[in-house]
Amino acid sequence: MNVFRTKPVEQSIEDAEGGEHRLRRTLSALDLTVFGVGVIVGTGIFVLTGVAARNTAGPAVAISFVVAGVVCALAALCYAEFAATVPVAGSAYTYAYATIGEFPAWIIGWDLMLELALGAAVVASGWSGYFASLLKNFGVDLPPSLAGDHAVFNIPAAVIVLLLTGVLVAGIKMSIRFNGAMVAIKLAVVLLVIIAGLFFVKAGNYQPFVPPSHQLPPDSGLKAPLIQVLFGVQPVAYGIFGVFTAAALVFFAYIGFDVVATAAEETRRPQRDLPIGIIASLVVCTILYVVVSLVVVGMQHYSELSESAPLADAFRSVGQPWVATLISVGAIAGLTTVVMTLMLGQSRVLFAMCRDSLLPRSLARVHPKFRTPYRITVVIGVVTALLSALIPLSAIAELVNIGTLFAFVIVAVAVVILRRTRPDLPRSFRTPLVPLVPIVSVLASAYLMLNLPVETWIRFFVWMAVGTVVYFLYGYRRSRVANPRSKPGEPALGR
Ligand code: ALA
Repeated sequence: MNVFRTKPVEQSIEDAEGGEHRLRRTLSALDLTVFGVGVIVGTGIFVLTGVAARNTAGPAVAISFVVAGVVCALAALCYAEFAATVPVAGSAYTYAYATIGEFPAWIIGWDLMLELALGAAVVASGWSGYFASLLKNFGVDLPPSLAGDHAVFNIPAAVIVLLLTGVLVAGIKMSIRFNGAMVAIKLAVVLLVIIAGLFFVKAGNYQPFVPPSHQLPPDSGLKAPLIQVLFGVQPVAYGIFGVFTAAALVFFAYIGFDVVATAAEETRRPQRDLPIGIIASLVVCTILYVVVSLVVVGMQHYSELSESAPLADAFRSVGQPWVATLISVGAIAGLTTVVMTLMLGQSRVLFAMCRDSLLPRSLARVHPKFRTPYRITVVIGVVTALLSALIPLSAIAELVNIGTLFAFVIVAVAVVILRRTRPDLPRSFRTPLVPLVPIVSVLASAYLMLNLPVETWIRFFVWMAVGTVVYFLYGYRRSRVANPRSKPGEPALGR
């Protein structure tokens, strides 16, 4: 059994050229930075700050944001090399197929569904929290069973996902201009929070900055971070452990920068601009996140922060509902692009997997008029809508993190492997200090993974086990790398 068969880089590039139009190299470092901020800033800052400060880190959630930012920066350096060397759809899935082999590639593609489709569902659920908060400002109270984190069936979340699916199928291009407008709105709202919020900060709310750790109730074993359980530490919240546990949670706020790496093919000078774009967007977001979280925990005691719309509700708590309204509008606009971009990323990865026949190849068919992979996009849209409607945000956000961190680990390992196996490939960007940076990146990502709760690990293993079964029942036999010639009657993919 050869589950480690690889797909040569040249083959991946050739496949991509056959199926899609060649992209024009027009993007500059600034464009990439704007794109990055557009994809990155979302639920993490608008929603999770509240949960993380309230339940896990207290005001020190600002430090958690720094820790998560550093982990991402290390991974970003590895993604940048791959994006510049293998500039085709599929992201970490394609990189793994070129280096480690088919089964690991499948596993990573399966895993990326946690980052992209599940991530989109989580952000849609955050979107609905802000939507409900906005309606409240106009005197409309949505029943908690139909919107927000405790919804039984989250209707606004499902509706926005389905609408965006329609947009993606119709092939509306997220032009840099549209994205730029959204980023401007988002940044304006974030700056508004910082500037207006400063007037309401009370020094007393920062005391204690790192609240003393306190033991979690005994029945919370599954909720405790794996690292505490492994080392026999009593599960605790707050304290220094709490800061790192919260880092693993707010890591979500940085998810999406890897989608920037996929713009390698469209970047004018990838060697220079790609690392600048990725790193600059991470730096901008880290600074914004730290300042916003400091302001928000200064405005309202961390124990009172709202879990579904903390920024807007902090302003409501200080008697400024108009600011709350503006924040809700900005968050709704901003989160919409995040949901759409994550689903777009998901459709690219699954499209690549279907094209390689690891999933039904007919799903990779491109629409004759819209020129989009409409079938796989609709499947993703329906599944994501159901997920966002039925599963509470807090339970799934951490599964998105573990999936993304796992992809970071594989990409860092793959950088080192590809340097050994294909030193000849032209690399327009090289990760500095190989193998040191990839090794530190693996350790940093693994450390954040260990800080995720035991129940998240269990769900992760179950998901991966299902993926393994699907591979051996389906993809292993049908893989196009294993059967290079198309069989008669096999559907053509169109262009
Ligand atoms: N980073 C994105 C967000 O926070 C996924 O919404």
